Amino acid sequence: MYDGDIASVLISERQIKDKVSELAKQVDDDHPQSGDLLLVGVLKGAVMFMTDFARALPHPAQLEFMAVSSYGSSTSSSGVVRILKDLDRDIAGKNVVVVEDIIDSGLTLSWLLKNLASRNPASLEVCTLLRKPDAVQVDVPVRYVGFDIPNEFVVGYGLDYAERYRDLPYIGTLDPKVYTSGA
Ligand code: XMP
Ligand code: MG
Repeated sequence: MYDGDIASVLISERQIKDKVSELAKQVDDDHPQSGDLLLVGVLKGAVMFMTDFARALPHPAQLEFMAVSSYGSSTSSSGVVRILKDLDRDIAGKNVVVVEDIIDSGLTLSWLLKNLASRNPASLEVCTLLRKPDAVQVDVPVRYVGFDIPNEFVVGYGLDYAERYRDLPYIGTLDPKVYTSGA
């Protein structure tokens, strides 16, 4: 699959699986009244993580999705966000966990958290599979982080380049030829 496009495997399928279980256990342990969690997955990148994470949780959780688009170039976000698909229901009084694929500048998430907080959930936390170095400087509370990764563009396990590579079971870095050939 995608022969030659992937320069290196940064996080293997096995490592992802183990981390998803570990995160699910942590989140479950932190919620004594478990069974009432509402997961909010951010489309499309978080879809693989969301489905694996939900199934790894020892107690039932409900699933909601949001799609947002950040104005700006394709490689950096501006912090100005537009909702493409909103939640289907009210989250007031719910224990919400936002499930994200990756936090880079943190601007998208920062906007999203303000937006969700205004809907008065009982609690609001973030669980992200990946975090890049710049995110650490932004004042966004992220309780659960799978992997801190280097400042490189990564694909796979939901993450795309021009809508490709989301279906890879691992996280990898792209061969620069992919950016330059326009393929
Ligand atoms: P910010 O900068 O607001 O943006 O935290 C996070 C969003 O940017 C995208 N993003 C990536 N997508 N590989 C990707 O496929 C990457 O390495 C990458 N870095 C940032 C992603 O959509 C994320 O939600
Ligand atoms: Mg993307």
